[in-house]
Amino acid sequence: MTETDLFSPLQLGSSLLENRMVMAPLTRNRATTDFIPQAMNVEYYTQRASAGLIISEASPISPQGIGYPLTPCIFTAAQTEGWKTVVDAVHNKGGHIFMQLWHVGRISHPSLQENNALPVAPSAICPAGDARTYTGLQPFVTPRALEVDELPGIVEDYRVAAENAKQAGFDGIEVHAANGYLLDEFLRDGSNQRTDAYGGSIENRSRLLMEVIDAVTTVWPANQVGVRISPENSFNDINDSDPQITFNLVAKRLSSYGLAYLHTIEGDMANGERKINYREIKDNFNGHYMANLAYDLERAQTAIKQGDTDMVAFGSLYIANPDLVERFKANAPLNTPDQDTFYGGDEHGYTDYPFMES
Ligand code: PHB
Repeated sequence: MTETDLFSPLQLGSSLLENRMVMAPLTRNRATTDFIPQAMNVEYYTQRASAGLIISEASPISPQGIGYPLTPCIFTAAQTEGWKTVVDAVHNKGGHIFMQLWHVGRISHPSLQENNALPVAPSAICPAGDARTYTGLQPFVTPRALEVDELPGIVEDYRVAAENAKQAGFDGIEVHAANGYLLDEFLRDGSNQRTDAYGGSIENRSRLLMEVIDAVTTVWPANQVGVRISPENSFNDINDSDPQITFNLVAKRLSSYGLAYLHTIEGDMANGERKINYREIKDNFNGHYMANLAYDLERAQTAIKQGDTDMVAFGSLYIANPDLVERFKANAPLNTPDQDTFYGGDEHGYTDYPFMES
């Protein structure tokens, strides 16, 4: 019997993945002004179809969930149709693709909201830093704390977005509960100072996430739904006083659903620091585990062989290397990602990274 490695197949829900390499969700800000995926997006995803799994860039579930220019969304029929052209093309190449559902919470700006509304959050706490707006960086504002009676509407937005994702033909969905966006703002106690049923205990802080999972699993079989968390990431000025305890319990609670996977950003994106034990989080979760953050081929192989993860997601390596699977298999040199073209622009730095010479 051959040993399981990064190139071994994996059954994920109804999808048989050819390998355990995942293209991480990557915000690229190249949709139309109506937030509809367009031809260059189809080309970009199709180029990367040899990944075992592609996770779409984060896609807002509602106008309120938008926090950046030109992010493709999933709340209108036209956006759903646009995504279908991406999904069909990836499927035609034999690939598999999940959609990441996103509500940015306080990481927005009035200029990105309908009627210049304030962004919303669990508590009225202004994150340090700047929003990326159509007129450049602007300081974050103090968000409006959501009323309890607004939460069912947000849960319903997730459910409808999950339906749209199904309509578009995706193989599954990933609920984005990481990186300082709305669901993560509820999970972590630095941003959640509520005193109602959605604040205080870890059970209360994870209530909104569980309600979202309850809703989207009325649309999708649970084994086609993944969740993304980032226990220690300080990105978007967020923190938790005890990430090990908080996320061990979140992983345990998520286990009752029989989900597809738990996608974990292991450490702080700002400096790579990793202080907690991710194996504990994995061991608290009963589905597949997907590791992410600064993995290369060697680290990924070691982690899989040691049983520390089932899949590995690659971010910036996938921006620069459409054929990352083939390059890893051949131990070939990698293209270098160009930071200047990560967010927004045209095909340059998007679909023009060269494939390996054959
Ligand atoms: C970003 O746009 O920088 C971004 C978006 C979603 C993430 C992380 C980063 O989860």
